[in-house]
Amino acid sequence: MNSLSARGPGRVELLGNHTDYNDGVVLSAAINFAVTVQGEVRADRNVTLHSTISPQAVCEPLSRLDKQTGDASWANYPLGVASCLREADYPVEGFEMRISSDLPPGAGLSSSAALEVATACLLMKLFSLEIAPMELAKLCRRAENDFVGVKCGLLDQVSSIFGKRGQAVYLDCRSEKVENIPLPPQTELLVFHTGVEHRLVGGEYNERRERCFAAVRALGVPALRDVTAAHLEAARSQLDDLVYRRAAHVVGENERVFAGIDYLRNGDGASFGKLMFASHASSRTNFENSTPELDVLVDLAHEEPGVLGSRLTGGGFGGATISLVEAERAEEIARHLEEKYTARTGNQGRAYLCESADGAA
Ligand code: GLA
Repeated sequence: MNSLSARGPGRVELLGNHTDYNDGVVLSAAINFAVTVQGEVRADRNVTLHSTISPQAVCEPLSRLDKQTGDASWANYPLGVASCLREADYPVEGFEMRISSDLPPGAGLSSSAALEVATACLLMKLFSLEIAPMELAKLCRRAENDFVGVKCGLLDQVSSIFGKRGQAVYLDCRSEKVENIPLPPQTELLVFHTGVEHRLVGGEYNERRERCFAAVRALGVPALRDVTAAHLEAARSQLDDLVYRRAAHVVGENERVFAGIDYLRNGDGASFGKLMFASHASSRTNFENSTPELDVLVDLAHEEPGVLGSRLTGGGFGGATISLVEAERAEEIARHLEEKYTARTGNQGRAYLCESADGAA
């Protein structure tokens, strides 16, 4: 049987935290850490999945792809993709697939979307499916929303598909327009995993989403995308304080993304970096999706010469920070942060110097 392979890169979110499901704007980049899958068609109408993270394979009949629980829940991402493709009438039949990854798990670098995208790309090859890139991103998101049960936006899947080496991905979630914009010259992306796992499958993410929608209802607008900082301030007295602060984060993030695009276009990494620090400060006080470890790291990065900006990346509640650093000091910065972070917290963190990479498309 002919074996084929596909890969889905992870991503870093550069600016635009929790804006995607609020019809907002976001800047990200695909990175050179990815999920790789390899597989072949099976004649018996079963889906069999193997992963290097589990000794136990998962096998489900195509006619009934059931959601897995406990140790087998890693299989829900590929099962969800197969199920959504079939529901959308794409002729997916039985297949066998092996999964491996060099993406640090629990870092908030979107290993789930990377797995969804890699699976979808493999199935396109195995069953000769033609799916436009944005349609593919949406099918993968549907797998996560409906099968896995995390109500995420489009950011992760779009980044994994539309990434480009040396460039950021700008996504407007309302128009679904995607554009690649060059990253600042002589800079590198430094991911620092706190060693404290980030878990999106928990309730925090969906709870934040609900607060944002509560703000939308109270303000009588279609989405937080339609609210400016001035508008929000004027309406502050009508809002519950928690709802106000959640909304203030999203509104501020959209404004920072618009400013950030101009800085990127001008190659101004220093000004872009300041927006990253401002984004983290807002996560800390308004959205409360940071953790003490993430805060320590961003504070350490702030003191470190050559760091232009630093913030939590992705959903939050653990995981990693992303820093924009001067390329010539990047390795020294990584080493210093590792030493200082361990001295300060007792945790074993890990720095990853990343390259922005081409997406699966
Ligand atoms: C997670 C979700 C994304 C996005 C980010 C926060 O990564 O999967 O859709 O909401 O959090 O910006």
